[in-house]
Amino acid sequence: MFKINENYLKLPGSYLFSTIAKKVKAYQEANPDKEIIRLGIGDVTQPIAPKIIDAMHSAVDEMGKAETFHGYAPDLGYDFLRNAIVEGDYKSRGADISADEIFVSDGAKCDSGNIQEIFSLDNKIAVCDPVYPVYVDTNVMAGRTGNYNSDTEMFENVIYMQCKEENNFAPQLPDKTPDIIYLCFPNNPTGSTINKAQLQEWVDYANKVGAVIIYDAAYEAYISEQDVPHTIYECEGARTCAIELKSFSKNAGFTGVRLGYTVVPKDLKCGDVCLNSLWARRHGTKYNGAPYIIQRAGEAVYSAEGREQIKKQVAYYMNNAKIIKEGLQTAGFTVSGGVNAPYIWLKTPDKMTSWEFFDYLLESANVVGTPGSGFGPSGEGYFRLTAFGSYENTIAAIDRIKKL
Ligand SMILES: Cc1ncc(COP(=O)(O)O)c(C=O)c1O
Repeated sequence: MFKINENYLKLPGSYLFSTIAKKVKAYQEANPDKEIIRLGIGDVTQPIAPKIIDAMHSAVDEMGKAETFHGYAPDLGYDFLRNAIVEGDYKSRGADISADEIFVSDGAKCDSGNIQEIFSLDNKIAVCDPVYPVYVDTNVMAGRTGNYNSDTEMFENVIYMQCKEENNFAPQLPDKTPDIIYLCFPNNPTGSTINKAQLQEWVDYANKVGAVIIYDAAYEAYISEQDVPHTIYECEGARTCAIELKSFSKNAGFTGVRLGYTVVPKDLKCGDVCLNSLWARRHGTKYNGAPYIIQRAGEAVYSAEGREQIKKQVAYYMNNAKIIKEGLQTAGFTVSGGVNAPYIWLKTPDKMTSWEFFDYLLESANVVGTPGSGFGPSGEGYFRLTAFGSYENTIAAIDRIKKL
């Protein structure tokens, strides 16, 4: 008789966004005349930039001719893309990363979920609270955590690092020593960031205690302030303690195209074992490479024209972020984020819970956001709005909220 992986049964309830979708659907069915504006899910809305579309078209044509047809991609990524990444994202920032330390994938969600496979089940993980749910849930599935405690809304055997208003939504070094530390800056959901000195402190700490940092930089393109690091490898010593995850989803609109990469430096070792080799082994065994057409699209992201075009898209979303942030502040809300990230994190008024505010906003303004409590217990009393809508919808949503 087969048995299931019972770790899956530890995962509580339904996924946050499906709960939201159900509530919105029910409201819309009951109120078909209402025009709902969605500023909830972190999906982009702008079309892919022309230079990138051109690159995809040419790659499609190549696939139609025997002389230029491409079958299986190299499982770690085509050199043309890995080299473009090294030049565009690392050398240009003075970070010492080479092409054979880049592993191309179909996105950061998979990588952030899969990377835990190369670590022992004994390792203790530390995560921010609130947090992008994938880090914890995938460790739960693997059996690296204890049970879920519905009173605390936390899993046993996980170190939660509270990110609250008092600490500018930045985690403090934990009291208990973790083995694997998940950090994400600019942050989803709070939109917060840390400066280079703060990140250096984490790198020094990880090297001191022998921990590895899994650094999710999916929102790096949204950084606007000077002192915010674009990659963890700007910090001294990061090559011996950090893995970095990157995505093309939010900087270039690839959420439906799918491309990302993970950096595993060769200096990152456990005893004599190089994590770069372990991840290469895992990738080679379980993954057959991102499609050629999509990797050519990724290469175009780093072209001069491509860069210019995607910069405009990011600026478009960040203008929305400014409208949301300033509009909410004018309306008397306490707001953070929205400066180096497309997420605005607001404190719910009148001590409403995150879900109470969700219902209130849906029913009174017909605006959909995301309850902060869905990202962890410290998110209770907060609410996330995203800048990924259209300019027109963003203006309309804020006008409605101001009138409440
Ligand atoms: C923090 C964070 N990491 C990773 C991802 C997933 O990125 P991708 O689309 O590359 O899978 C997201 C998507 O919303 C995210 O917010």
